[in-house]
Amino acid sequence: MDIKAISSENRRQIDDFISSHWFSTDMVVKGELVDMTVLDGFAVYDNEAVIGLVTYRIRSNECEIMSLDSLRGKQGIGTALVNKVIEIAREKKCTKIKLVTTNDNINAIRFYQKRGFDMTNLYRNALNVSRELKPSIPLLGDFDIPIKHEIEFEMDLKNQ
Ligand SMILES: CC(C)(COP(=O)(O)OP(=O)(O)OC[C@H]1O[C@@H](n2cnc3c(N)ncnc32)[C@H](O)[C@@H]1OP(=O)(O)O)[C@@H](O)C(=O)NCCC(=O)NCCS
Repeated sequence: MDIKAISSENRRQIDDFISSHWFSTDMVVKGELVDMTVLDGFAVYDNEAVIGLVTYRIRSNECEIMSLDSLRGKQGIGTALVNKVIEIAREKKCTKIKLVTTNDNINAIRFYQKRGFDMTNLYRNALNVSRELKPSIPLLGDFDIPIKHEIEFEMDLKNQ
């Protein structure tokens, strides 16, 4: 699999990819507006085209996955990208990897739990605040489920 880190060379292409999948390059996580154009990450390429992307940040020994997208499902792209973040987080001596997804994202909730992430927090009605900061967030998500809450997952790296 052709995986490249985000760098000054592919930054613009990555920003375009983020805009087209997340409505803008700003993302709201737990009430914080995050500028995704400055995040680290890894992209999967098919020739020149980006077909998968993970972004993350590391603060105070905690790694946080900010986005994960695979354009070709069920081929191992999502798993490979998460594994790259786990590798980096271990290298940087992080104690955990955190991420947040929304209540409609049944696929991600399955995906992360099967890869060693445990559900740790529910932020009820977090999307009310998110929509104030980013009005483009739709009301309905996967399976037309109303997007209302954030669910936090963590992978503990201390005991592994
Ligand atoms: C969640 C997401 C990133 C998963 O990406 P993906 O590339 O499909 O992930 P993988 O291919 O590694 O794994 C998905 C499933 O395909 C299976 N799979 C992988 N390769 C396979 C193959 N060759 N044949 C059959 N199944 C395969 C995996 O076992 C996995 O199933 P499981 O979770 O039940 O074990 C993707 O669905 C996505 O982009 N969703 C939209 C954005 C999103 O919700 N992001 C996460 C929230 S931040």
